[in-house]
Amino acid sequence: MTRALLLSFSPHGKSAQNFQLARNLLSDCLPDAQVSERDYGSQALPPLTCEYACALTGADDGSEDATALSEQLIVELEACDLLVICTPVHNFTVPAALKGWIDHVVRIHRSFTVNERFEKIGLLDDRRTFVLVSSGNARKGHEPDFLTPYLSAILSIVGIRSVEFAYLGAMVRGEEAVSQAVAQAHRQLSEAISSGL
Ligand SMILES: Cc1cc2nc3c(=O)[nH]c(=O)nc-3n(C[C@H](O)[C@H](O)[C@H](O)COP(=O)(O)O)c2cc1C
Repeated sequence: MTRALLLSFSPHGKSAQNFQLARNLLSDCLPDAQVSERDYGSQALPPLTCEYACALTGADDGSEDATALSEQLIVELEACDLLVICTPVHNFTVPAALKGWIDHVVRIHRSFTVNERFEKIGLLDDRRTFVLVSSGNARKGHEPDFLTPYLSAILSIVGIRSVEFAYLGAMVRGEEAVSQAVAQAHRQLSEAISSGL
């Protein structure tokens, strides 16, 4: 049975269009999947603490308390074999809520390590990952896109390389534009989710 983790990084939380789409896709394409939903957009994760920063950059791994939330989020991620990230574009890149999740999940000696050549090596298993990106702009290419290369790079650092992006553009252009974007992303993703990457 597929265990899916469905994450929202929108200020609209689970009401965001891309989250609703992801939820529908999972129930249409993988009706037997066990789905865990998390809203880290409207209920943002806390900022990093001084203790957490020291645990990541100091000589030892710090106290269990300092890394407790990070550990919880990594365990949640490890438990899924299908990851769905629903995010808006904010100022050409990931929203702060998603950056916060990344800072908790990408942890040295836990989700990645560094070899003698200073290369970062992922410690998590790869897993199918879909990123549903919602933007005000009409389509890719109209403005700089720092979200796609950044998210691809940072997920690969922890070992997640099987990533497919779907773009819901022109989301500020009214109901018709939103319906078109949702329908297009539904077509793109339904086959991929049913059949694997
Ligand atoms: C703070 C902020 C910054 C944004 N920056 C961009 C941007 O750089 N490019 C873009 O295409 N849309 C941008 N948008 C528009 C959102 O990406 C778009 O409205 C998206 O559909 C919002 O998704 P949501 O409903 O899940 O929040 C921005 C919106 C906000 C609130």
